[in-house]
Amino acid sequence: MKKYKVDVLIVGTGVAGLYSAINLRSDLNIMIITKTSAKTCNTYLAQGGISKAKDLSDMKLFIEDTIKAGMYKNNEQAVKVLAEESIENIQNLTKLGVNFDNKGSGFSYTKEGAHRISRIVHCTDETGKAVFESLYNRVKERQNIKILENTCLIDIINDEGTCTGGVALYKNNVINISSKVTILACGGIGKLFKNSTNQETIEGNGIAIALRNNVYIQDLNYIQFHPTALYDKNSTFKRFLISESVRGEGGKLININGERFVDELLPRNVVTQAIKKELIKTNSDYVYLDVTHLDKKFIKKRFPLIYSECLKRRLDITKEKIPVIPTQHYLMGGIKVDLFSKTSMENLYACGETSCTGVHGANRLASNSLLEGLVFSKRAADQINKNIDNIKVKEIYNQMSYEEGLKLCKENIDIVIRELTKVGGDIINELDNSR
Ligand code: SIN
Repeated sequence: MKKYKVDVLIVGTGVAGLYSAINLRSDLNIMIITKTSAKTCNTYLAQGGISKAKDLSDMKLFIEDTIKAGMYKNNEQAVKVLAEESIENIQNLTKLGVNFDNKGSGFSYTKEGAHRISRIVHCTDETGKAVFESLYNRVKERQNIKILENTCLIDIINDEGTCTGGVALYKNNVINISSKVTILACGGIGKLFKNSTNQETIEGNGIAIALRNNVYIQDLNYIQFHPTALYDKNSTFKRFLISESVRGEGGKLININGERFVDELLPRNVVTQAIKKELIKTNSDYVYLDVTHLDKKFIKKRFPLIYSECLKRRLDITKEKIPVIPTQHYLMGGIKVDLFSKTSMENLYACGETSCTGVHGANRLASNSLLEGLVFSKRAADQINKNIDNIKVKEIYNQMSYEEGLKLCKENIDIVIRELTKVGGDIINELDNSR
């Protein structure tokens, strides 16, 4: 059994994992582990952009839009923090190398559902990839941060209610990583569904581990379905996303009879329900998203990824309507954390989709996910920077065999499926029961 000893263990290489690492002190010894390759994270797939308060006068409106979309179930304090710290964190991203699209001397802002104004910054339709690449490159430059790929966390080390590290599988071995602080930033639960826009590796690890160790969980029933994933009868699990910003830039939803049936920029859950109703009414497997009325050059320049991915599937979106279907996209609930991303367990933090700050309420406002990852992982890092010197860690190592580790991995999936089944309702029909 291989052993490591670090100051901070971070699980996940999405925006929350990488940005927390960058914001931690450079004298700390940090290890980031990720299940497969670093770029196999949901951040890499994010298309639309990142919301930010456009300026100080937009703060109130941004807060109201987030809470209204969230069906008034949000943690209002967390929403306030999100809006107030949005401007600074987007500035930080530009300093770290992210080149957001510009218009004149400022950002080119786009709009998505339930935003009353255009306040979303973007890098064409590959915002997540641009953010990932800049953060990843900065992390690689830091001597104090080591990334271990193909390393799957199977459990935390729980010393009577204090987290003292993690146990992971790496190349047919069990490894132990002893840490003063652990940050879970390992994403949502997409792979547990028949179809999702998520990476295939995202199967609720962090949430399972929290459940097994009696760390508080919140709002697992708040699961978001994105209204417009590409309908492709040959796709198995993963569906390609057609960004909400396509509707923000003028794309229209129509049924198979050519009729418009919903205001495309209502909150995501409302548009999803309208599409589901229309599928039943017209006895169809999809509705259409139509951009053929938009300028062809604009489409290719603004949505190069969507244009080329559809073209690969023999669909020229400048000439043909795009068949789309609602698909599992995001978990608003997760590991319950405070405003500094601290969980109910000592020395354990959670950030990004794995966590539940309550900021999204019951339905996340479009493009608030990368922002949540930024704001709350920075707050976690700031708190850890202050407190870590007072943490004395007891080194405890788990002696399990590789076979026992594999069993635990499978158990992790069962734990989350069991919890989701308790939620009941429509969700049960969407879960992948074939495993
Ligand atoms: C999208 O581009 O529609 C996805 C962005 C998000 O999930 O907020």
